[in-house]
Amino acid sequence: MDQAAANTLPDFTGRGYLEVLRTLHEALQPRNYLEIGTFDGNSLALADCAALAIDPAFPFADIELVRRIVSKPRLLLFRMASDRFFQQHDPCALLGDKLQLAFLDGMHRCEFLLRDFINTERHCARNSIIVLHDCLPVEEPMTDRCYLAQPPIEPHREYWWAGDVWRTARLLRRARPDLSFTTLDAPPTGLVLITNLDPGSTALSDRYDEHVRTMLGWSITEIGLQQHAADMQVEPTTNYITSEQLTTRFWL
Ligand SMILES: C[S@@+](CC[C@H](N)C(=O)[O-])C[C@H]1O[C@@H](n2cnc3c(N)ncnc32)[C@H](O)[C@@H]1O
Repeated sequence: MDQAAANTLPDFTGRGYLEVLRTLHEALQPRNYLEIGTFDGNSLALADCAALAIDPAFPFADIELVRRIVSKPRLLLFRMASDRFFQQHDPCALLGDKLQLAFLDGMHRCEFLLRDFINTERHCARNSIIVLHDCLPVEEPMTDRCYLAQPPIEPHREYWWAGDVWRTARLLRRARPDLSFTTLDAPPTGLVLITNLDPGSTALSDRYDEHVRTMLGWSITEIGLQQHAADMQVEPTTNYITSEQLTTRFWL
C-alpha cells in the first residue's frame, strides 16, 4: 500500500516504550511513581520505588509480573477512573512527597489526557517528569476515539489503539511553551517526556473548554502523520540510553 496515500508510517525502530521507561527508572531513581492506566502491570512492574497506580480494573494475570509489582516498599492501587481519584484523593498526601515520575496511559481520548496532565502537574515539582504514551500514531485507524472501531491498515497493528491523545500533545506544545518536551520514537506509538513543570499554572485549567474545542477541531488526515511527528520534533530513543545522556536533560 502507498503509505503516503494511506496516511500511514512505518513502524518505529527505536527502543520499545517499556525499555525507555525502565531506563528512566534505573538512571533517575525516582523516590515515587504515579501511573494512570496499568492494565496487566507491565509498566507498573518497572518501578522499584513507592508507587501509586490508578485504573478502573487491574487484570493482573502473570504471577512473575505480580511478584515484581508487589516488591516495592509501598504500593497503592486505586481501582477507579483517574478523574474520580483526583476528586477524592491527594497523591502528595498519600505518598508523603511531591510526585517525581508519572506515566499517563489511561483513557486514550484527548480531553481525558488533558485532565490527567492538569491533575498530575498540580502535584509535581518543577523538575518532575510526566510521560505521555501513544501521542505518535503510525496509521489513521488507530486514532479513532473508540477502541477497535476500525480495522488496521497493517494487520499486526490491530491492538495498537492510540486514540486521539496525539491532540493533547499538540495542544500542550501550543498552550504551554514554558514546558520542556522530549518526544521519542519508542515503538509502538511514541513517548513524550515533559519537564520544567509548573504546579501553579492555570493556563490549561482556566481555558479547558476552549482547549478541548481547539483539539477536537484538528484532523490527523489534514495534518498528516508525518507532519505531526515532525511538529512534535521526534528524537531517536538511542539519544537517551545511558544515564549520562538522560541526566543531561532530566534530574530528580
Ligand atoms: C493501554 S492500557 C495501560 C497499559 C500499561 N500502562 C502498560 O504499559 O502495560 C490502558 C489502561 O487504562 C485504563 N483506563 C481507561 N480509562 C481510564 C480512566 N478514566 N482512568 C484510569 N485508567 C483508565 C484501562 O482500564 C487500561 O487498563
